[in-house]
Amino acid sequence: MDINKITLKVPNAGLGSLVHKLISECPPLDTNSMYCNLLQTHHFAATSVAAIHQSQLIGFISGYIIPQRPDTLFIWQVAVSPKARGIGLASRMLSDILQRPECIHINNLETSITASNTGSWKLFERLARDLNAPLDKSILFDRFHHLNDEHDTEHLVHIGPFEKEHIAALNS
Ligand SMILES: CC(C)(COP(=O)(O)OP(=O)(O)OC[C@H]1O[C@@H](n2cnc3c(N)ncnc32)[C@H](O)[C@@H]1OP(=O)(O)O)[C@@H](O)C(=O)NCCC(=O)NCCS
Repeated sequence: MDINKITLKVPNAGLGSLVHKLISECPPLDTNSMYCNLLQTHHFAATSVAAIHQSQLIGFISGYIIPQRPDTLFIWQVAVSPKARGIGLASRMLSDILQRPECIHINNLETSITASNTGSWKLFERLARDLNAPLDKSILFDRFHHLNDEHDTEHLVHIGPFEKEHIAALNS
């Protein structure tokens, strides 16, 4: 797939059910309720992104600005359709969000990743390198303490602080 033929857009609620389907096709992501995906595409649209190719939704990132820390963008889920992987789409979607006017005050980014999700680690390590920023790891939600032994531990990844010039230089 040619990345130049993919359009990135701010999502809207009309995409909510398609997001729900895409997430279900992207293990190990947890599916949420369709209502949750509708809220992501509606209330969190300014910090989320949809990737469209030939009228199909092939990528989606949900994110929000942490309410208590307005300088920190939290990336909730990253989903790229199996047919669109390996061409830099997830990186491009992250850049698209970071370069929006709504993220003008953002100089830190967080996400959580399970230990075995190599693709996700590589994606965010690449982002930290591109932003010339430190990447720190800790535990966000522990398998036993928080997740009732039903889900792997979610490791908190913190990238930042980073400078505006490095955000501007990202390839969106
Ligand atoms: C993880 C995922 C989002 C990556 O999407 P993508 O568009 O293929 O990623 P990119 O092409 O932008 O790659 C970004 C970097 O990560 C690396 N990478 C991506 N997937 C990888 C994998 N499975 N194994 C090793 N490296 C991987 C790329 O090589 C690239 O690094 P580089 O530029 O240093 O070579 C995609 O595989 C996916 O949707 N997986 C299922 C859902 C998931 O696990 N989401 C992440 C958790 S929130």
